Amino acid sequence: MEEIVERLVLAQEARREELLLLLGDLSPEEAEHLRVAADRVRKSCVGDKVYLRGLIEFSNICVQDCLYCGIRRSNQEADRYRLDLEDILSCVDEGKRLGYRTYVLQGGEDPYYTDERIVEMVRAIKERDPECAVTLSVGEKERESYERYYQAGADRYLLRHETHSRELYEQLHPGMSYENRLRCLQDLKEIGFQVGAGFMVGLPGQTVADHVEDLLFLKELQPHMVGIGPFMPQQDTPLKDAPAGTAEMTCRLLSILRLLLPKVLLPATTALGSIDPKGREQGLQAGANVVMPNLSPTRVRDKYLLYDGKICTGDEAAHCRACIERRINSAGYVVDMGRGDGDIL
Ligand code: 5AD
Ligand code: FES
Repeated sequence: MEEIVERLVLAQEARREELLLLLGDLSPEEAEHLRVAADRVRKSCVGDKVYLRGLIEFSNICVQDCLYCGIRRSNQEADRYRLDLEDILSCVDEGKRLGYRTYVLQGGEDPYYTDERIVEMVRAIKERDPECAVTLSVGEKERESYERYYQAGADRYLLRHETHSRELYEQLHPGMSYENRLRCLQDLKEIGFQVGAGFMVGLPGQTVADHVEDLLFLKELQPHMVGIGPFMPQQDTPLKDAPAGTAEMTCRLLSILRLLLPKVLLPATTALGSIDPKGREQGLQAGANVVMPNLSPTRVRDKYLLYDGKICTGDEAAHCRACIERRINSAGYVVDMGRGDGDIL
């Protein structure tokens, strides 16, 4: 196991069987060895800085029906909302005041948000804060739409692949195809976006062998960012009784990703912070170097509920900003409010 880690550190690669071993039963000492190796690589490649991104959840209306997700179309219990441009710009103003340089605009696949409206939103944010980076996370679109967003000034795009198992992907996403997901990621890269892919950990039916494929796929895709978090059940979805993924497995995957893609931007996600009160700190110590505190207005915070037990649903943006800095420092790292552009390509 130590040899596998050593080769990962030196060559940034591992074979299928080796990855399977790293994700299997490790003694606490072996697991710690992997974590320490990732933390070292993180220090030499990206330093002790942790970048903050302000997350604005602008709509929880969605045409998709993903089995795991609390804002899926079929969920009649979800209290739906949509922020208008003025609301979004108030979040940006608040973000700017708190020192953010990146805004992540995330929403369900909401038909109200046509390409024209998304373009208008990107332009308006860039006008408000010309130095900032705008990240979009609005799902699967045609290539032409992505091109329009890019031309309007969007810099980055997050679209997790969710799972590289085609079978599991299609089981969890009725009416969607894995092929189209990959097409979207390819288009986004070709257009010039800094691209974020990623997956959930511990989905029902998912195996460690599936995670090995997630890792190999990401190594090949070479995204700038990788978002991973534990699956967590949501009470009004078909997967409400399924067990959640674990912080331990999520952290192990974060460490391996740091070794496979040393310069990648790797968030300690909200889901990781929700499954364990110290989850984000553990994620940072395992190799993560980004946190995405919430900037959404408090009145809609408790409505963007993809899973149960989400943290920060009652907190003001300023509270989260201070809280997260404290947590980052306590884990042994420092906040960097720069744009933190990815540069692995
Ligand atoms: N548990 C954990 N993560 C979830 N996501 C959606 N639903 C859940 C859930 N129940 C993740 C997906 C999506 C991202 C925005 O949130 O990976 O891409
Ligand atoms: Fe929101 Fe800690 S980050 S309360």
